[in-house]
Amino acid sequence: MSNRLEPEPVARRDFLNLAGIWASGLAVFGSLIGMARLTKPSVLPEEGKSIRIGHAAEYPPGSETVIPKQKVLIVSREEGIAAISLVCTHLGCIVKRVEAGFDCPCHGSKFGPAGELLAGPAPRPLRWFEVSLAVDDRLIVDAEREVPPGTFFSA
Ligand code: FES
Repeated sequence: MSNRLEPEPVARRDFLNLAGIWASGLAVFGSLIGMARLTKPSVLPEEGKSIRIGHAAEYPPGSETVIPKQKVLIVSREEGIAAISLVCTHLGCIVKRVEAGFDCPCHGSKFGPAGELLAGPAPRPLRWFEVSLAVDDRLIVDAEREVPPGTFFSA
């Protein structure tokens, strides 16, 4: 007969069954946490930043300039200047500029030259940010303000 001071010994088979159940439970729990993390970007773009990128004359029409700090590509055309985010809309990797547009090195998403989504798993096109002119005549890229793709700023 057992009491609180002398508990009945747990049979080896019962112990192994319990250990197996706990190990399976932990594995499922860990997997669920991992899957939940997949839906969130692992590298977040710097939110809420606006930076001065210099004078418009520094970006002659036809040029493309990467601003590493803000992870944007400044595209200058005859119609004006635009800022395209280089942060992949899937999980936040930095896309690479290629001849056909942009490629994400992480999971293979492909974007066209204007950031349009060509192939997933990214869910949406690259973002375009507002470009404006500061009082000192320098251009400002505001990563808090998204604009429709194809929006070029012209002073
Ligand atoms: Fe997954 Fe770009 S981060 S495709």
